[in-house]
Amino acid sequence: MKTAITEMFGIEHPIIQGGMHYVGFAELAAAVSNAGGLGVITGLTQRTPDLLAKEIARCRDMTDRPFGVNLTFLPTFTAPPYPEYIAAIREGGVKVVETAGRSPEQYMPALKAGGIKVIHKCTSVRHSLKAEAIGCDAVSVDGFECGGHPGEDDMPNMILLPRAAEELKIPFVASGGMADARSLVAALAMGAAGMNMGTRFIATKEAPVHENVKNALLKATELDTRLVMRGLRNTERVLNNKGVEQLLEIEREKGRALKIDDIHDQVAGVYPKVMIDGDMDAGAWSCGMVAGLIHDIPTVKELIDRIMADAERIIRQRLTGFLDGVEHRPTVRVIA
Ligand SMILES: Cc1cc2nc3c(=O)[nH]c(=O)nc-3n(C[C@H](O)[C@H](O)[C@H](O)COP(=O)(O)O)c2cc1C
Repeated sequence: MKTAITEMFGIEHPIIQGGMHYVGFAELAAAVSNAGGLGVITGLTQRTPDLLAKEIARCRDMTDRPFGVNLTFLPTFTAPPYPEYIAAIREGGVKVVETAGRSPEQYMPALKAGGIKVIHKCTSVRHSLKAEAIGCDAVSVDGFECGGHPGEDDMPNMILLPRAAEELKIPFVASGGMADARSLVAALAMGAAGMNMGTRFIATKEAPVHENVKNALLKATELDTRLVMRGLRNTERVLNNKGVEQLLEIEREKGRALKIDDIHDQVAGVYPKVMIDGDMDAGAWSCGMVAGLIHDIPTVKELIDRIMADAERIIRQRLTGFLDGVEHRPTVRVIA
């Protein structure tokens, strides 16, 4: 399949793996790139720019295909040295950066001077237009369904994607709630040139996380995520667990007086506990509603091959079948 995104990034399939804290290590990024998508290393999971440089080198040893690095500009307890991270990305020869959170405007000259294509992840049309105006090459349009930070507009992809298509000149991928061929074909129909998946890629053999995390995703339904930190205007969609229930209780008690320090224990340092130790009640970790569509743990290649084969079947048989007056049932296998 050829789209503006496959052409822009030099990849075979229009599927991107979004940066994921403590998930987007070289193993997953390389597996996605080797399967024909665009794998992405999560920059800030590497505690220093030097460690990021090593992770990039490790990924390069595992794949000779393009891969990217995610740089997230979110409120954190201590601000990371972004210019040094960008230097590590440039020196590592990485040509795609996925930015997210605040606008990457101040870092665009450094990224562009490195010949880097920037895909900014945004949750609204106005932020997407701003990304276009500051010279981003593409946008990842992230709907309310998404795992992680859906913003404060609560706009689901069924509206957000066609609205983005109405306004944007640069290509965009659909992000949030994407799981399979149905997601990809629907995203293409709504004007996207591909899709970005987060949560779905965690439930793969290569995702370097504790088995408890993968099993939790198999067990979870679309009803099992919660929105936390709304009162701080830093909303995050997370998988419910005991730590999250405590967090929500504190939020209810404190009301408008809530401060980030009140929930420090439920949000800080949670990722290694969940992703490495498999402590599933540790607190808030990002997870999309798409958990309800995850029913197996394939290899990344099996997942991507299945998506592309099913997408072709949906387009050639189901959709053209409607035009030809032939009745077709959904053809997507949900169990491998
Ligand atoms: C466990 C997890 C960690 C994430 N960490 C980050 C991150 O550090 N930076 C970022 O830009 N997005 C992060 N995301 C968001 C993903 O890149 C992606 O935009 C999102 O998962 C898409 O929604 P989906 O989960 O429905 O596919 C994370 C998502 C998950 C599930």
